Amino acid sequence: MSEFFLTESGKKLVTFIPGDGIGPEVTGAARRIIEATGAAVAWEDREAGAAVFKQGLPSGVPQNTIDSIQKTKIALKGPLETPIGFGEKSANVTLRKLFETYANIRPVRTLPGVPTPFSNKNIDLVVVRENVEDLYAGIEFMQTPGVAEALKLISRKGCEKIVRLGFEFARAEGRKKVHCATKSNIMKLTEGMLKRTFEAVAPEYPEIESTHIIVDNCAHQLVRFPEWFDVIIMTNMNGDILSDLTSGLIGGLGFAPSANLGTDYAIFEAVHGSAPDIAGKGIANPTALLLAAAMMLDHCRLIDQAKRLRQAVSDTLNLDKVRTGDLGGSASTAEFTKALVSRIANG
Ligand code: NAI
Repeated sequence: MSEFFLTESGKKLVTFIPGDGIGPEVTGAARRIIEATGAAVAWEDREAGAAVFKQGLPSGVPQNTIDSIQKTKIALKGPLETPIGFGEKSANVTLRKLFETYANIRPVRTLPGVPTPFSNKNIDLVVVRENVEDLYAGIEFMQTPGVAEALKLISRKGCEKIVRLGFEFARAEGRKKVHCATKSNIMKLTEGMLKRTFEAVAPEYPEIESTHIIVDNCAHQLVRFPEWFDVIIMTNMNGDILSDLTSGLIGGLGFAPSANLGTDYAIFEAVHGSAPDIAGKGIANPTALLLAAAMMLDHCRLIDQAKRLRQAVSDTLNLDKVRTGDLGGSASTAEFTKALVSRIANG
């Protein structure tokens, strides 16, 4: 693992990107709560997203943000939108490509105090999504005036990296099963490459049960028997879509964190976007970003602080019953954050 940048006072420096829409609200909450845990973290504030596009920078990511992440190797970011008419590219895709964060880890776990139709199931699964290849290369063109074409690019190297990371992650977490969900029955070369790579690598992890599953059946089984699943490896678009589904299983996008991991860099964020419909109203649920912040603390080896953060989230939702509107509660983002801070202070 790459070494972190330490400040003079010995704190781990993290690039902090508030993002767009509800981004400043939820990242602000996360920052406050990380500070409440006493974690030895310092922040370098940087911009990316809508405001940067509007300044005329087509990538949405300014050089001083790139420089900062290159130095700190770790970022906590809010969602970034690509405003129509200001830029063609997604600032998120730019960040993933620049820092080669080829894996997107999206864990979901049944949360006490978050009632869902699946509350009686013990859901604890992780989508491991390939993060830089597939249709997200964004290469599209008109074949004829009436026919559009998009390129789905999948490399053997990319498949190997994501499959190995999936198995290593499962091994590190002591998980028992790894699925690989593909559409290899139709796209035999592209999706089939992930399936074949998975089957070639799996025997190196004999203690882990490995199963290939067709991705549409995976969607079906995830809703019927989510407790069957442990780690699921997918190509970029399948992982994008099914990880929103898995977020829904545990209460929605407000509860789903994610980590973009590369060999040298790690960028932590929520699965959700900038939620323009509720931006600025002070009602966003910061839990997803908070759980991403806990993943970041684990990554920084601040394990105790990560544990306290997760416990405070669980106690605030389950015992204090302080909940935001998406969960049928009436707490504002600020009230929810305040309740978490007092849980941490008294915990
Ligand atoms: P979205 O995730 O922003 O919103 C979908 C729905 O979920 C909305 O009704 C929203 O109010 C609700 N929601 C999302 N997060 C919530 C939270 N924390 N608390 C309460 N409710 C929440 O998806 P949408 O509308 O498709 O995307 C909006 C923008 O975000 C787009 O510009 C998109 O490109 C961008 N986006 C950025 C992502 C990132 O930076 N990683 C990821 C997904 C979308």
